[in-house]
Amino acid sequence: PQKNLAAKPPMGWNSWNKFATDIDDKTVREIADAMVSSGLRDAGYIYVNIDDGWQGKRDQNGVLQPNEKFPDMKALADYVHSKGLKIGIYSSQGPKTCGGYEGSYGHVEQDAKTFAAWGMDYLKYDLCSGEAFYHTKETVYASYQQMGEALAATGRDIIFSLCQYGRFDVGAWGRDVGGHLWRTTGDIEDNYARMSWIGFDANGKPNHTGPNGWNDPDMLEVGNGGMSHDEYKTHMSLWALMAAPLLLGNDVRTMTPDTIALLTNREVIAIDQDVAGVQGLPVKKDGTTEIWTKKLSDGSTAVGLFNRAEAPVTVSGNWAEIGLGGAGKVRDVWAHKDAKATAAYSFTLPAHGAVLLTVSR
Ligand code: DGJ
Repeated sequence: PQKNLAAKPPMGWNSWNKFATDIDDKTVREIADAMVSSGLRDAGYIYVNIDDGWQGKRDQNGVLQPNEKFPDMKALADYVHSKGLKIGIYSSQGPKTCGGYEGSYGHVEQDAKTFAAWGMDYLKYDLCSGEAFYHTKETVYASYQQMGEALAATGRDIIFSLCQYGRFDVGAWGRDVGGHLWRTTGDIEDNYARMSWIGFDANGKPNHTGPNGWNDPDMLEVGNGGMSHDEYKTHMSLWALMAAPLLLGNDVRTMTPDTIALLTNREVIAIDQDVAGVQGLPVKKDGTTEIWTKKLSDGSTAVGLFNRAEAPVTVSGNWAEIGLGGAGKVRDVWAHKDAKATAAYSFTLPAHGAVLLTVSR
């Protein structure tokens, strides 16, 4: 039974992309502070999620303890909650996590209770080291189902994130095991090749996504420095069109104004968070240019124009050929500019760049 905890794609921050296992209590508290002071919380980024690397050993009763870098998880959760944020944690179904830490194998119900007792609001549940046990759809399903039921049994509202890289057509059954989002690929990296492969070529099936169950093309890399401004704009535009969960993966304590602007553009976030929960799709591909559309609940359409080439390009055509004939108003949501629609459009896109629009009658 799936709880109504993710009517819109979850938004927040996760420690992995920037810190990997080099994460501790102090950093998480500072991140929580920065989520508030930078305006990220008020833009909708609510979850502060600790990924792999927090775990210590089990005590004599089998209760999982954090390691020395996290002296008191309950106190940390209270702190994060006191900032008007929610907090998440990570585990894996195998005996060890991908980082080599203690996994939940053999302790699923016990760990779910521990996470609930600490005050966790979100669990990312990985598929590591247990592959010897969980290598068929049935066993993977059963493993996620077991944790989904264990979380439900705690009585606490905990978003359940299935981190199993899109295997075994997870989007078709993620909801049935109580999942609210499920990864569609292996890990993102902070480079255009990997990000654009996930976004353009490997995103999940659109009919699997919608309120309370989202295809998850992995966390954001915006602000980590491996991509240009235009490449990060493409990253955000694609994730918004896909209705992807928006989990920041950068150090939000030290952001440039450009990074803040990319992450807090209210109109871009509104496209991602649209209540209809439709996953956008490419409607036209022409060599290295792509045009994507996403129907929005107010009757307008979000349109992304993308240039996958390493040189600027001008993309032109008629709205009618992409199903938007009769459009009256075009708004450039990155530029915050309105224009009157004419029958034809023409936009010049920088290398690896994007234009994101809303088009209405
Ligand atoms: C694999 C996941 O895909 C990553 O996001 C991260 O959680 C690591 N495991 C942690 O070991």
